[in-house]
Amino acid sequence: MSRKILVTSALPYANGAIHLGHLVEYIQTDIWVRFQKMAGNECWYVCADDTHGTPIMLRAEKEGITPEQLIERVHGEHSRDFAGFGVGFDNFYSTNSAETQECANDIYLKLRAGGLIDIRTIEQYYDPVKQLFLPDRFIKGECPKCHAKDQYGDNCEVCGAAYAPTDLIEPYSAVSGAKPELRKSEHYFFKLSDPRCEDFLRKYTSSGVLQNEAANKMQEWLGAPGENKLTDWDISRDAPYFGFEIPDAPGKYFYVWLDAPIGYMGSFKNLCSKNGLDFNEYFKPDSTTELYHFIGKDILYFHALFWPAELQHAGYRTPTKIFAHGFLTVDGAKMSKSRGTFITAQSYLDTGLNPEWLRYYYAAKLSASMEDIDLSLDDFVARVNADLVGKYVNIASRSAGFIAKRFNGQLAPATADLPAIKSIQEAAPRIAELYEAREFGKAMREVMALTDAANQYVDSVKPWELAKQEGRDQELHVACSNALNLFRLLTVLLKPILPVVAGKVEKFLNIAPLVWDDSQSLLAAGHGINAYEHLMTRVDPKLIEKLVEANKESLTAAPAAPTPQRHAEQQQHDAKAKTAAAETAAEAGSLCTIDDFMKVDLRIARIANAEHVEGADKLVRLTLDIGGDTTRNVFAGIKSAYDPAQLIGRLTVMVANLAPRKMKFGLSEGMVLAASDADGKTPGIFLLSPDSGAQPGMRVK
Ligand code: 2FM
Ligand code: ZN
Repeated sequence: MSRKILVTSALPYANGAIHLGHLVEYIQTDIWVRFQKMAGNECWYVCADDTHGTPIMLRAEKEGITPEQLIERVHGEHSRDFAGFGVGFDNFYSTNSAETQECANDIYLKLRAGGLIDIRTIEQYYDPVKQLFLPDRFIKGECPKCHAKDQYGDNCEVCGAAYAPTDLIEPYSAVSGAKPELRKSEHYFFKLSDPRCEDFLRKYTSSGVLQNEAANKMQEWLGAPGENKLTDWDISRDAPYFGFEIPDAPGKYFYVWLDAPIGYMGSFKNLCSKNGLDFNEYFKPDSTTELYHFIGKDILYFHALFWPAELQHAGYRTPTKIFAHGFLTVDGAKMSKSRGTFITAQSYLDTGLNPEWLRYYYAAKLSASMEDIDLSLDDFVARVNADLVGKYVNIASRSAGFIAKRFNGQLAPATADLPAIKSIQEAAPRIAELYEAREFGKAMREVMALTDAANQYVDSVKPWELAKQEGRDQELHVACSNALNLFRLLTVLLKPILPVVAGKVEKFLNIAPLVWDDSQSLLAAGHGINAYEHLMTRVDPKLIEKLVEANKESLTAAPAAPTPQRHAEQQQHDAKAKTAAAETAAEAGSLCTIDDFMKVDLRIARIANAEHVEGADKLVRLTLDIGGDTTRNVFAGIKSAYDPAQLIGRLTVMVANLAPRKMKFGLSEGMVLAASDADGKTPGIFLLSPDSGAQPGMRVK
């Protein structure tokens, strides 16, 4: 009997671009959902933009637009990126919706009626200039432990210490620069430490809904029996705030984590109204439907503790399982903007890389564990070219032409007991189990072994030789028909990962959309196929170089606005979770660690020569002396601000280990540092100069 399944991926923040790190999750979930649909289950995949909070409000203000305009624009960008990578949501909605508000109010009022909401006065930093309470990541100051300057209000990037914003020395607001004041305000709390929540969560988190490693983490977070380590959770923020006002508390707003997971419900509710589905059937406490959340390991605390406790005590069903995955590394390291490995979805698509290459590569690396996965760029090229082009597509391209030219496009009966065919049919249920268990890497290893066997069959019958020999037409016909049947069976197994290629194969083989059961059947004798069209090209390594280059962030670019991680703000009571969130922030590339910074070789340089570049509007050619006998040729975009003659002899700072860049006018071997105002309020470009006494070649750090 077909199962009824509702699946979600974490809601992306509506103030940032989708990058390859995000795509690990969306591609993983999409593969699983496509498998469920192919297997005949009723499966719905919903998501939404996570639109509320102070960062979004401030970002919109900075851009001079309303938060609604910002989230609408980002929704368009996110929808385009997801569609580009074949992520087939049944609904991609917004938390800023009537449905989410209705569910949030309902859950809050039920928790309140159940005595699980508490009101307490707390003291928090307030920006007297901007007139708002500051989230931790908008407060900066000196680390109380190692005394590093300009550290965020929740943890130190230099020594890793976790602390409260009030521990910072000489704190300042990252929004206005003003000295923040401590102000009292009433906040609403969800009483997670209530014995009802604790009892429920102890049972729930050890009932098999979590991966083993996650369940162990929960024991740590819950504490040993008798030692309740759960802390109440602040669910309100004061105006001004972009979000939903709490129904019985004017001027107070639901903090984002009280509407983000509820956005899963809001998005599904919206889908129900469009498709005539019964929302209640999926969310009632005794529902026989299944609910799965795919998330990153950094937000486990919210999904495994707060969210099920909220649902349980507001009279709804709880998640069937929570699937957490690890982070993405690129070439073995955190994604980095300076190395060009913080790769956006859009740049990948714009560079002309095939999204299904990445889908396959991720699938080959994914497992059911929470381990990080590495995108090794060389391995990506090698694996996609070997597996997809060299092995899989090769089967069709070697046999389709003969069927078209010699047999009028019609197939001979396949050899049903051919070992290569039988082994695929026998492996299909096993591979289905691997998909179900999210062991996509293992599934791909099996599929590639079957693909090898199919190629060995083609190699053994050698259609290209049969085609040259008189009187062997019949053998040629059977050989090519078997090869195309093998290809069709392998396509069934790969379809959750390669939906576009599978669609092209269905067209070429002239068949209805493949479902999982098709792995047990063969094409009938006489079946007519269409002309073969190329299914997939090889990855050109030059495209990868281009992609990395396109994502390298220039140090002369405007400094990026802080990208606060909201969960970091919430976790102020939980030092461990807080460190994890900060690691995530660094992982996501929004923070630069001291190690990242030290990779940049900054040197004092003397401008030995400066001249106009013929035909260039913005560039000046600089010859930089960096000590010893070393000079560097650098093209700098500073013509609008400087007369080359005035620059000669002056000292500045250069990036000495920037990969040389071939430009139209010659090779640029570095970059000089200059300041500019992103908003254009103070027009101009300001070249940096060291204090007197600095010598060419001195390291800047
Ligand atoms: O961590 C994040 O990216 C949040 N926007 C995820 C929210 S998931 C769900 F709870 F909405
Ligand atoms: Zn420190």
